Amino acid sequence: MVSYIIIIGEAIAELKKLPAKSVDCIVTSPPYFGLRDYGHEDQIGLEKTPFQYIRMILALFKEMHKALKDQGTIWWNIGDSYMFDSAYKNMKYKMSTQNLLGIPWMTAFAVQGRILTPFEMFGDISEDMKVAIKSKDWKAMKSIRNRIREYDLLSKEIKAGNRFVLRQDIIWHKHKVMPESVRNRCTKSHEYIFMFSKDNKAPVIYNSNDTNEWSLSPNMEETIEKPCEEGMKDVKRWRGCMYYFDYLAIREKSKLKWNSAINFGLGDRSKYNGSAFSETKGLDSFHEDKVRNYRNKRDVWTVNTCASAKDSHLAPYPKKLIRPCILAGCPKGGTVLDPFSGSGTTGEVAMSLDRNYIGIELNPEFAEHSIKKLDVILSQTKQTGLM
Ligand SMILES: C[S@@+](CC[C@H](N)C(=O)[O-])C[C@H]1O[C@@H](n2cnc3c(N)ncnc32)[C@H](O)[C@@H]1O
Repeated sequence: MVSYIIIIGEAIAELKKLPAKSVDCIVTSPPYFGLRDYGHEDQIGLEKTPFQYIRMILALFKEMHKALKDQGTIWWNIGDSYMFDSAYKNMKYKMSTQNLLGIPWMTAFAVQGRILTPFEMFGDISEDMKVAIKSKDWKAMKSIRNRIREYDLLSKEIKAGNRFVLRQDIIWHKHKVMPESVRNRCTKSHEYIFMFSKDNKAPVIYNSNDTNEWSLSPNMEETIEKPCEEGMKDVKRWRGCMYYFDYLAIREKSKLKWNSAINFGLGDRSKYNGSAFSETKGLDSFHEDKVRNYRNKRDVWTVNTCASAKDSHLAPYPKKLIRPCILAGCPKGGTVLDPFSGSGTTGEVAMSLDRNYIGIELNPEFAEHSIKKLDVILSQTKQTGLM
Protein backbone atom coordinates (compact mmCIF):
# COMPACT_ATOMS: atom_id res chain seq x y z
CA MET A 1 0.00 0.00 0.00
CA VAL A 2 1.50 3.37 -0.98
CA SER A 3 1.61 6.29 1.41
CA TYR A 4 3.04 9.77 1.73
CA ILE A 5 4.44 12.11 4.36
CA ILE A 6 4.87 15.84 3.98
CA ILE A 7 7.29 17.30 6.51
CA ILE A 8 7.08 21.05 7.02
CA GLY A 9 10.55 22.35 7.77
CA GLU A 10 14.01 23.19 6.53
CA ALA A 11 15.46 20.58 4.18
CA ILE A 12 18.89 20.02 5.78
CA ALA A 13 17.52 19.97 9.34
CA GLU A 14 14.69 17.60 8.43
CA LEU A 15 16.90 15.29 6.37
CA LYS A 16 19.09 14.80 9.46
CA LYS A 17 16.06 13.29 11.23
CA LEU A 18 15.30 10.66 8.55
CA PRO A 19 16.45 7.10 9.29
CA ALA A 20 19.74 6.21 7.56
CA LYS A 21 19.47 4.48 4.18
CA SER A 22 15.68 4.67 4.17
CA VAL A 23 14.89 6.11 0.73
CA ASP A 24 15.33 4.47 -2.65
CA CYS A 25 15.56 7.55 -4.82
CA ILE A 26 15.66 11.33 -4.55
CA VAL A 27 14.03 13.43 -7.27
CA THR A 28 14.09 17.16 -6.73
CA SER A 29 14.50 20.66 -8.02
CA PRO A 30 16.25 22.92 -5.49
CA PRO A 31 15.81 26.68 -5.57
CA TYR A 32 18.21 27.93 -8.24
CA PHE A 33 20.88 30.39 -7.26
CA GLY A 34 19.83 34.04 -7.11
CA LEU A 35 16.56 33.70 -8.97
CA ARG A 36 13.47 33.36 -6.80
CA ASP A 37 12.51 34.65 -3.40
CA TYR A 38 10.34 32.08 -1.62
CA GLY A 39 9.78 34.53 1.19
CA HIS A 40 11.29 32.52 4.06
CA GLU A 41 14.43 33.33 6.02
CA ASP A 42 15.64 29.71 5.91
CA GLN A 43 15.27 29.39 2.17
CA ILE A 44 18.12 28.20 -0.01
CA GLY A 45 19.00 30.13 -3.17
CA LEU A 46 19.50 33.72 -2.05
CA GLU A 47 22.99 33.34 -0.61
CA LYS A 48 25.31 36.27 -1.25
CA THR A 49 27.73 34.36 -3.45
CA PRO A 50 27.73 31.18 -5.56
CA PHE A 51 30.27 29.68 -3.13
CA GLN A 52 27.91 30.09 -0.19
CA TYR A 53 25.18 28.50 -2.30
CA ILE A 54 27.41 25.54 -3.20
CA ARG A 55 28.32 25.07 0.45
CA MET A 56 24.61 24.86 1.28
CA ILE A 57 24.12 22.29 -1.47
CA LEU A 58 27.08 20.29 -0.17
CA ALA A 59 25.54 20.24 3.30
CA LEU A 60 22.33 19.03 1.72
CA PHE A 61 24.09 16.27 -0.24
CA LYS A 62 25.78 15.13 2.97
CA GLU A 63 22.36 14.51 4.54
CA MET A 64 20.91 13.03 1.35
CA HIS A 65 23.86 10.61 1.29
CA LYS A 66 22.84 9.40 4.75
CA ALA A 67 19.14 9.03 3.94
CA LEU A 68 19.69 7.31 0.59
CA LYS A 69 20.11 3.55 0.27
CA ASP A 70 23.47 2.47 -1.18
CA GLN A 71 21.80 1.47 -4.45
CA GLY A 72 19.86 4.75 -4.66
CA THR A 73 20.18 7.60 -7.12
CA ILE A 74 19.62 11.36 -6.99
CA TRP A 75 17.95 13.18 -9.89
CA TRP A 76 18.80 16.85 -9.53
CA ASN A 77 17.00 19.34 -11.75
CA ILE A 78 18.95 22.59 -11.92
CA GLY A 79 19.16 25.63 -14.16
CA ASP A 80 21.81 28.32 -14.42
CA SER A 81 21.72 32.04 -13.73
CA TYR A 82 23.61 35.05 -14.96
CA MET A 83 25.98 37.15 -12.92
CA PHE A 84 23.52 40.02 -12.98
CA ASP A 85 20.86 37.77 -11.36
CA SER A 86 23.04 37.32 -8.32
CA ALA A 87 24.15 39.31 -5.34
CA TYR A 88 27.62 38.46 -6.60
CA LYS A 89 27.40 41.37 -9.01
CA ASN A 90 27.86 43.67 -6.04
CA MET A 91 31.26 42.30 -5.21
CA LYS A 92 34.28 43.84 -6.78
CA TYR A 93 34.88 41.20 -9.36
CA LYS A 94 36.58 41.20 -12.69
CA MET A 95 33.97 39.23 -14.61
CA SER A 96 31.34 41.11 -16.55
CA THR A 97 27.80 40.77 -15.25
CA GLN A 98 26.89 39.32 -18.66
CA ASN A 99 28.51 36.05 -17.61
CA LEU A 100 26.61 32.84 -17.14
CA LEU A 101 27.70 31.56 -13.73
CA GLY A 102 27.92 27.84 -14.46
CA ILE A 103 26.24 26.98 -11.15
CA PRO A 104 24.95 23.54 -12.22
CA TRP A 105 28.43 22.37 -13.12
CA MET A 106 30.16 24.04 -10.17
CA THR A 107 27.71 22.19 -7.94
CA ALA A 108 28.21 18.91 -9.78
CA PHE A 109 32.01 19.20 -9.47
CA ALA A 110 31.74 19.89 -5.74
CA VAL A 111 29.46 16.90 -5.22
CA GLN A 112 31.91 14.72 -7.16
CA GLY A 113 34.63 15.86 -4.76
CA ARG A 114 36.47 17.92 -7.36
CA ILE A 115 38.01 21.15 -6.21
CA LEU A 116 38.61 23.93 -8.68
CA THR A 117 41.79 25.93 -8.22
CA PRO A 118 41.44 29.54 -7.00
CA PHE A 119 42.38 30.64 -10.51
CA GLU A 120 39.55 28.58 -12.03
CA MET A 121 37.19 29.90 -9.42
CA PHE A 122 38.04 33.59 -9.42
CA GLY A 123 40.41 34.33 -12.26
CA ASP A 124 43.70 36.08 -11.45
CA ILE A 125 43.01 37.07 -7.86
CA SER A 126 46.68 37.91 -7.16
CA GLU A 127 46.56 40.55 -9.89
CA ASP A 128 43.41 42.04 -8.28
CA MET A 129 45.21 42.10 -4.92
CA LYS A 130 48.26 43.87 -6.38
CA VAL A 131 46.04 46.55 -7.88
CA ALA A 132 44.09 46.95 -4.62
CA ILE A 133 47.29 47.25 -2.54
CA LYS A 134 48.82 49.75 -4.96
CA SER A 135 45.75 51.95 -4.91
CA LYS A 136 45.20 51.42 -1.16
CA ASP A 137 41.66 50.26 -1.91
CA TRP A 138 40.86 48.72 1.52
CA LYS A 139 37.36 47.73 0.49
CA ALA A 140 38.65 45.78 -2.50
CA MET A 141 41.33 44.13 -0.33
CA LYS A 142 38.68 43.05 2.18
CA SER A 143 36.50 41.69 -0.59
CA ILE A 144 39.41 39.64 -2.01
CA ARG A 145 40.27 38.33 1.45
CA ASN A 146 36.63 37.28 1.88
CA ARG A 147 36.71 35.46 -1.41
CA ILE A 148 39.86 33.59 -0.36
CA ARG A 149 38.25 32.70 2.96
CA GLU A 150 35.15 31.43 1.15
CA TYR A 151 37.31 29.38 -1.18
CA ASP A 152 39.17 27.81 1.75
CA LEU A 153 35.92 26.92 3.49
CA LEU A 154 34.44 25.47 0.35
CA SER A 155 37.49 23.35 -0.45
CA LYS A 156 37.63 22.03 3.13
CA GLU A 157 33.98 21.03 2.91
CA ILE A 158 34.45 19.42 -0.50
CA LYS A 159 37.38 17.39 0.88
CA ALA A 160 35.36 16.27 3.90
CA GLY A 161 32.14 15.61 1.93
CA ASN A 162 30.67 12.38 0.65
CA ARG A 163 31.51 11.65 -2.94
CA PHE A 164 28.82 11.01 -5.50
CA VAL A 165 29.30 9.78 -9.03
CA LEU A 166 27.81 12.03 -11.67
CA ARG A 167 26.39 9.45 -14.05
CA GLN A 168 24.59 11.68 -16.49
CA ASP A 169 23.77 15.25 -17.46
CA ILE A 170 20.30 14.95 -18.92
CA ILE A 171 19.22 17.98 -20.88
CA TRP A 172 15.66 19.10 -20.28
CA HIS A 173 14.87 20.74 -23.57
CA LYS A 174 11.88 23.05 -23.21
CA HIS A 175 9.95 23.22 -26.42
CA LYS A 176 7.88 26.24 -25.45
CA VAL A 177 9.63 28.80 -23.25
CA MET A 178 9.02 32.28 -21.94
CA PRO A 179 10.30 34.67 -24.59
CA GLU A 180 13.35 36.67 -23.45
CA SER A 181 13.92 40.20 -24.64
CA VAL A 182 17.54 39.59 -25.57
CA ARG A 183 19.21 40.44 -28.83
CA ASN A 184 22.75 39.37 -28.13
CA ARG A 185 22.26 35.68 -27.39
CA CYS A 186 19.76 32.88 -27.95
CA THR A 187 16.74 32.36 -25.75
CA LYS A 188 17.44 29.93 -22.92
CA SER A 189 15.50 26.72 -23.47
CA HIS A 190 17.22 24.05 -21.42
CA GLU A 191 18.01 22.99 -17.88
CA TYR A 192 19.85 19.98 -16.48
CA ILE A 193 18.82 16.89 -14.65
CA PHE A 194 21.98 15.50 -13.11
CA MET A 195 21.82 11.87 -12.13
CA PHE A 196 24.10 10.93 -9.24
CA SER A 197 24.81 7.58 -7.65
CA LYS A 198 26.75 6.87 -4.48
CA ASP A 199 30.46 6.23 -5.02
CA ASN A 200 30.27 2.51 -4.17
CA LYS A 201 33.44 0.48 -4.37
CA ALA A 202 31.70 -2.82 -5.12
CA PRO A 203 28.29 -3.96 -6.46
CA VAL A 204 25.49 -3.29 -3.99
CA ILE A 205 22.55 -4.72 -5.92
CA TYR A 206 22.09 -7.44 -8.53
CA ASN A 207 20.00 -7.56 -11.70
CA SER A 208 18.97 -10.83 -13.35
CA ASN A 209 19.91 -11.35 -16.98
CA ASP A 210 16.64 -13.10 -17.83
CA THR A 211 13.65 -11.61 -15.97
CA ASN A 212 14.94 -8.14 -15.00
CA GLU A 213 14.49 -9.00 -11.29
CA TRP A 214 16.51 -7.02 -8.74
CA SER A 215 17.95 -8.52 -5.58
CA LEU A 216 20.26 -7.39 -2.80
CA SER A 217 21.58 -10.89 -2.10
CA PRO A 218 20.78 -13.36 -4.87
CA ASN A 219 22.15 -16.87 -5.24
CA MET A 220 25.23 -16.13 -7.32
CA GLU A 221 25.56 -19.80 -8.30
CA GLU A 222 22.42 -19.56 -10.47
CA THR A 223 22.93 -19.82 -14.21
CA ILE A 224 20.73 -19.39 -17.26
CA GLU A 225 21.04 -20.74 -20.79
CA LYS A 226 21.94 -18.27 -23.49
CA PRO A 227 22.13 -18.84 -27.23
CA CYS A 228 25.57 -18.34 -28.74
CA GLU A 229 27.24 -19.12 -32.06
CA GLU A 230 27.92 -22.74 -31.03
CA GLY A 231 24.39 -23.35 -29.72
CA MET A 232 23.52 -22.78 -26.05
CA LYS A 233 25.80 -21.97 -23.15
CA ASP A 234 25.35 -21.43 -19.41
CA VAL A 235 25.95 -17.93 -18.17
CA LYS A 236 25.64 -16.36 -14.71
CA ARG A 237 22.10 -15.28 -13.97
CA TRP A 238 22.97 -12.24 -11.84
CA ARG A 239 24.91 -9.16 -12.78
CA GLY A 240 26.33 -6.91 -10.03
CA CYS A 241 25.37 -3.23 -10.24
CA MET A 242 26.59 -0.11 -8.46
CA TYR A 243 23.06 1.27 -8.28
CA TYR A 244 19.46 0.48 -9.22
CA PHE A 245 18.53 1.61 -12.70
CA ASP A 246 15.63 0.02 -14.55
CA TYR A 247 16.46 0.98 -18.11
CA LEU A 248 13.71 -1.27 -19.45
CA ALA A 249 11.07 0.78 -17.64
CA ILE A 250 11.99 3.89 -19.62
CA ARG A 251 13.05 2.56 -23.01
CA GLU A 252 11.64 4.36 -26.01
CA LYS A 253 9.82 3.17 -29.09
CA SER A 254 12.24 2.84 -31.96
CA LYS A 255 11.50 3.11 -35.62
CA LEU A 256 14.80 1.55 -36.60
CA LYS A 257 14.19 -1.33 -39.07
CA TRP A 258 16.30 -4.45 -38.95
CA ASN A 259 17.79 -3.74 -42.39
CA SER A 260 18.68 -0.20 -41.39
CA ALA A 261 20.33 -1.54 -38.24
CA ILE A 262 22.66 -3.62 -40.38
CA ASN A 263 23.29 -0.64 -42.65
CA PHE A 264 24.14 1.44 -39.62
CA GLY A 265 27.00 -0.97 -39.00
CA LEU A 266 25.41 -2.82 -36.09
CA GLY A 267 26.14 -6.08 -37.95
CA ASP A 268 24.10 -9.23 -37.98
CA ARG A 269 23.40 -9.73 -34.31
CA SER A 270 20.42 -11.99 -34.89
CA LYS A 271 22.47 -14.97 -33.76
CA TYR A 272 23.07 -13.50 -30.34
CA ASN A 273 20.59 -12.95 -27.60
CA GLY A 274 22.66 -9.95 -26.61
CA SER A 275 21.35 -7.07 -24.55
CA ALA A 276 20.56 -5.08 -27.69
CA PHE A 277 17.78 -7.45 -28.63
CA SER A 278 16.76 -8.99 -25.36
CA GLU A 279 15.08 -5.67 -24.62
CA THR A 280 12.65 -6.28 -27.53
CA LYS A 281 9.83 -8.75 -27.37
CA GLY A 282 12.45 -11.52 -27.35
CA LEU A 283 14.68 -13.18 -29.88
CA ASP A 284 11.96 -15.22 -31.63
CA SER A 285 9.51 -12.39 -32.08
CA PHE A 286 12.39 -10.23 -33.22
CA HIS A 287 13.05 -12.68 -36.05
CA GLU A 288 9.37 -12.66 -36.95
CA ASP A 289 8.84 -8.94 -37.46
CA LYS A 290 12.45 -7.91 -38.15
CA VAL A 291 11.79 -4.67 -36.35
CA ARG A 292 13.62 -3.56 -33.26
CA ASN A 293 10.77 -2.13 -31.24
CA TYR A 294 12.61 -0.29 -28.50
CA ARG A 295 15.79 1.61 -27.86
CA ASN A 296 17.59 2.87 -24.77
CA LYS A 297 16.22 6.22 -23.58
CA ARG A 298 18.24 9.17 -24.86
CA ASP A 299 19.62 11.91 -22.62
CA VAL A 300 17.87 14.91 -24.19
CA TRP A 301 14.28 15.08 -22.98
CA THR A 302 11.90 17.46 -24.69
CA VAL A 303 9.17 18.36 -22.23
CA ASN A 304 7.02 21.48 -22.11
CA THR A 305 7.11 23.62 -18.99
CA CYS A 306 3.95 23.91 -16.92
CA ALA A 307 2.30 27.08 -15.66
CA SER A 308 3.33 28.47 -12.26
CA ALA A 309 0.95 27.67 -9.44
CA LYS A 310 -1.67 30.40 -9.05
CA ASP A 311 -1.07 33.04 -6.36
CA SER A 312 2.30 31.68 -5.35
CA HIS A 313 5.99 32.04 -6.16
CA LEU A 314 6.14 28.36 -6.86
CA ALA A 315 7.63 26.91 -10.05
CA PRO A 316 6.44 23.33 -10.35
CA TYR A 317 8.21 21.03 -12.76
CA PRO A 318 6.18 18.99 -15.27
CA LYS A 319 5.06 15.52 -14.24
CA LYS A 320 6.24 14.17 -17.57
CA LEU A 321 9.77 15.36 -16.82
CA ILE A 322 10.22 13.33 -13.65
CA ARG A 323 8.21 10.23 -14.58
CA PRO A 324 11.26 8.52 -16.16
CA CYS A 325 13.43 9.43 -13.15
CA ILE A 326 11.04 7.64 -10.82
CA LEU A 327 10.40 4.69 -13.13
CA ALA A 328 14.12 4.06 -13.62
CA GLY A 329 15.32 5.12 -10.18
CA CYS A 330 12.85 3.59 -7.72
CA PRO A 331 11.40 0.07 -7.63
CA LYS A 332 7.64 -0.34 -7.20
CA GLY A 333 6.74 -0.12 -3.53
CA GLY A 334 9.95 1.84 -2.80
CA THR A 335 10.21 5.38 -1.45
CA VAL A 336 10.94 8.57 -3.36
CA LEU A 337 12.12 11.66 -1.45
CA ASP A 338 11.91 15.30 -2.51
CA PRO A 339 13.56 17.70 -0.02
CA PHE A 340 12.10 20.70 -1.90
CA SER A 341 8.61 19.34 -2.29
CA GLY A 342 6.83 22.58 -3.26
CA SER A 343 3.44 21.73 -4.74
CA GLY A 344 4.16 18.00 -4.37
CA THR A 345 4.64 17.12 -8.05
CA THR A 346 7.21 14.43 -7.19
CA GLY A 347 4.73 12.90 -4.74
CA GLU A 348 1.91 12.91 -7.30
CA VAL A 349 4.01 11.07 -9.86
CA ALA A 350 5.58 8.70 -7.32
CA MET A 351 2.24 7.63 -5.88
CA SER A 352 0.53 7.25 -9.22
CA LEU A 353 3.40 4.90 -10.15
CA ASP A 354 2.91 2.88 -6.98
CA ARG A 355 5.85 4.32 -5.02
CA ASN A 356 5.74 5.90 -1.55
CA TYR A 357 6.64 9.53 -1.03
CA ILE A 358 8.41 11.71 1.52
CA GLY A 359 8.35 15.46 0.83
CA ILE A 360 10.05 18.24 2.81
CA GLU A 361 8.84 21.80 2.33
CA LEU A 362 9.65 25.02 4.13
CA ASN A 363 6.53 26.94 3.22
CA PRO A 364 3.45 25.68 5.14
CA GLU A 365 1.10 27.06 2.46
CA PHE A 366 2.78 25.07 -0.30
CA ALA A 367 2.78 22.04 1.96
CA GLU A 368 -0.98 22.36 2.67
CA HIS A 369 -1.67 22.73 -1.02
CA SER A 370 0.36 19.60 -1.82
CA ILE A 371 -1.39 17.57 0.89
CA LYS A 372 -4.74 18.28 -0.77
CA LYS A 373 -3.40 17.10 -4.12
CA LEU A 374 -1.74 14.01 -2.70
CA ASP A 375 -4.92 13.01 -0.87
CA VAL A 376 -6.71 12.99 -4.22
CA ILE A 377 -4.01 10.74 -5.72
CA LEU A 378 -4.22 8.49 -2.68
CA SER A 379 -7.98 8.05 -3.08
CA GLN A 380 -7.59 7.46 -6.83
CA THR A 381 -4.96 4.78 -6.34
CA LYS A 382 -7.28 3.11 -3.80
CA GLN A 383 -10.20 3.17 -6.26
CA THR A 384 -8.18 1.76 -9.13
CA GLY A 385 -6.72 -0.86 -6.84
CA LEU A 386 -3.22 0.24 -7.74
CA MET A 387 -1.97 -0.26 -4.21
C1 LIG B 1 11.81 24.95 -7.29
S1 LIG B 1 10.65 24.84 -6.00
C2 LIG B 1 10.18 23.14 -6.08
C3 LIG B 1 8.96 22.92 -6.91
C4 LIG B 1 8.51 21.48 -6.95
N1 LIG B 1 9.43 20.65 -7.67
C5 LIG B 1 7.12 21.41 -7.59
O1 LIG B 1 6.98 20.80 -8.64
O2 LIG B 1 6.20 22.00 -7.02
C6 LIG B 1 11.65 24.89 -4.58
C7 LIG B 1 10.90 24.72 -3.27
O3 LIG B 1 11.86 24.66 -2.24
C8 LIG B 1 11.34 25.31 -1.09
N2 LIG B 1 12.49 25.65 -0.25
C9 LIG B 1 13.36 26.68 -0.38
N3 LIG B 1 14.33 26.60 0.56
C10 LIG B 1 14.06 25.51 1.30
C11 LIG B 1 14.69 24.89 2.41
N4 LIG B 1 15.80 25.40 2.95
N5 LIG B 1 14.14 23.77 2.92
C12 LIG B 1 13.00 23.23 2.38
N6 LIG B 1 12.36 23.77 1.33
C13 LIG B 1 12.87 24.90 0.79
C14 LIG B 1 10.55 26.47 -1.65
O4 LIG B 1 9.57 26.92 -0.74
C15 LIG B 1 9.96 25.85 -2.91
O5 LIG B 1 8.70 25.31 -2.65
